[in-house]
Amino acid sequence: MKRFSSVLISIVVLAVFSAGFAFAQSPAKDLVDDACSKCHSIKRVYSANKNLAQWGITLDRMIKKGAKINPEERDTVLKYLNTLNK
Ligand code: HEC
Repeated sequence: MKRFSSVLISIVVLAVFSAGFAFAQSPAKDLVDDACSKCHSIKRVYSANKNLAQWGITLDRMIKKGAKINPEERDTVLKYLNTLNK
């Protein structure tokens, strides 16, 4: 019984964590899919392999060009881009 409970608790904890992750990730993904596919294919973003610092430089360059990412969104988008590294 004790063992069953701990398995159950692990499943619940895992489910809550992955749901939280999905919630945290999808608004950033929506932003990127929308704002970063205006001038070039979104493949350009998903095929890039950059670290956090490199993404920061690229993102700022894209914002200067006209990408619609406001200062409050920049951090979330940057964190999301950093998860794309292969
Ligand atoms: C206003 C047009 C425009 C928008 C919007 C835009 N880009 Fe770009 N992007 C460009 C142009 C032009 C180039 C090629 C010249 C260059 O690299 O500066 C480029 C190149 C790139 C490259 C390849 C070059 C490199 O440094 O690896 C990546 C990656 C990239 N963009 C990511 C993004 C991301 C992420 C977004 C969304 C935040 C975005 N772009 C939105 C115009 C845009």
